Amino acid sequence: MLRLETQDKDSMQLTDHEQAMYDGRDGPAIQKAMDLLVRYGEALGAERLVETNNVCATITATTPFQRDIALKGGGMDAVFSEFSLDSQDVVKIPKFKTFTSHLQLGFDPNQPEKFGLSEEIVQFYNKSEKHVAGLGAQIMNTCTPYQVGNVPTRGEHCAWMESSAVVYCNSVLGGRTNTEGRESCGAAMLTGRIPDWGYHRDEPRRATHVIELDIEVESVQDWGLLGYFMGDLVQERVPVVYSRRGIGKVPNLPRLKHFGAAASSSGGVEMYHIAGVTPEALTLEQALGGNQPVEIFRYGEAERRATYEKINATGKDAEIQYVMLGCPHYTIEQIWEAAQLIEGRKVHENCELWIFTPRVIKSLADRNGYTEIIEKAGGIIMSDSCSAMSRAVPKGTKTVALDSAKQAHYLPAILGVEAWFGTTAQCIDAACTGRWNGGYE
Ligand code: F3S
Repeated sequence: MLRLETQDKDSMQLTDHEQAMYDGRDGPAIQKAMDLLVRYGEALGAERLVETNNVCATITATTPFQRDIALKGGGMDAVFSEFSLDSQDVVKIPKFKTFTSHLQLGFDPNQPEKFGLSEEIVQFYNKSEKHVAGLGAQIMNTCTPYQVGNVPTRGEHCAWMESSAVVYCNSVLGGRTNTEGRESCGAAMLTGRIPDWGYHRDEPRRATHVIELDIEVESVQDWGLLGYFMGDLVQERVPVVYSRRGIGKVPNLPRLKHFGAAASSSGGVEMYHIAGVTPEALTLEQALGGNQPVEIFRYGEAERRATYEKINATGKDAEIQYVMLGCPHYTIEQIWEAAQLIEGRKVHENCELWIFTPRVIKSLADRNGYTEIIEKAGGIIMSDSCSAMSRAVPKGTKTVALDSAKQAHYLPAILGVEAWFGTTAQCIDAACTGRWNGGYE
């Protein structure tokens, strides 16, 4: 068994319990996890660790490379050691200490043919899923864990991967997380600790930039546009959205989901405030925490239109072969809306419609009859992944239609396709006509 030297307490303060884990009291896997967290924390300048009981991460094995590692000996422990603890030594992985939710994968194992998956990989994945569920992971398989049972409370320290989930956790729920990696999350699952830096602390959460609204922001598309505009300008800084007249209609979950995802794609926004709406910004002053803003940007009709044109820059051909909805994963409300829009219509023979949602919401859609309506029209509801994650689109796709600014940002860059971004109604219409008839609304 590896034993590490007692660490220098001047660099990072550990509690007695943490020190004992670090010294190997709880076995080699936890010792390795603590070693990783201490090295990671010191590199970040953290002085201590914080307790967490909320991790969201990718854990399962999904690739032929990971399968080869498992087959070489060591099985799933070898995969976890290598990919979730950054350890070439294979250590036996104990059950997780921390409430852990599984994020999305690179495919939907229930639709192998759509993702070009071999039977072998599906079987290997299923084995891996069973294994990590046995360790204590919740198989939510979504980028929106906050929709399906993992809803951090204000001030709760978390260790989450996935930028669109992180920005939602920090900004909308008031949870506290940085954008972690697979390894730091792996270590957090085993120890219940994560370095205390960045968005775990008060000061970095304060707004630095103000986005002042000159127009009303209402629809899901409106919020996607504003998020894209904001991320592009502020990059990794913390913006506060503010309107002198007050934010009109309070944005709901789908709107804030699209807003944050867009801001974390065009920039790297991990935390924002909306004055009068989000929990740490009852007022503009509270969001700024007594600081002066570094810069104030205005958002009016000209900025909205320019953002729309920027997101639609790759859209040229009106012929559409693929419509993808569900980035971030659709809520039940959005599936309900899509079902209403498509009921009685048919997806065009030259086009496919794929909708992505968490597994749990898919079963609700099944029970509510929405899946049947969508399938009757020729669309499919999938889970666990999306086209950007899986790099999978229907064969022959040259042009896609999307209602997500995030997916419109990534898909052309990842797959070289053209993308049109519009409202859900415009996307459903494109699926049924095989043409993009949308325009600036
Ligand atoms: Fe989720 Fe894929 Fe979008 S993982 S946030 S649906 S890029």
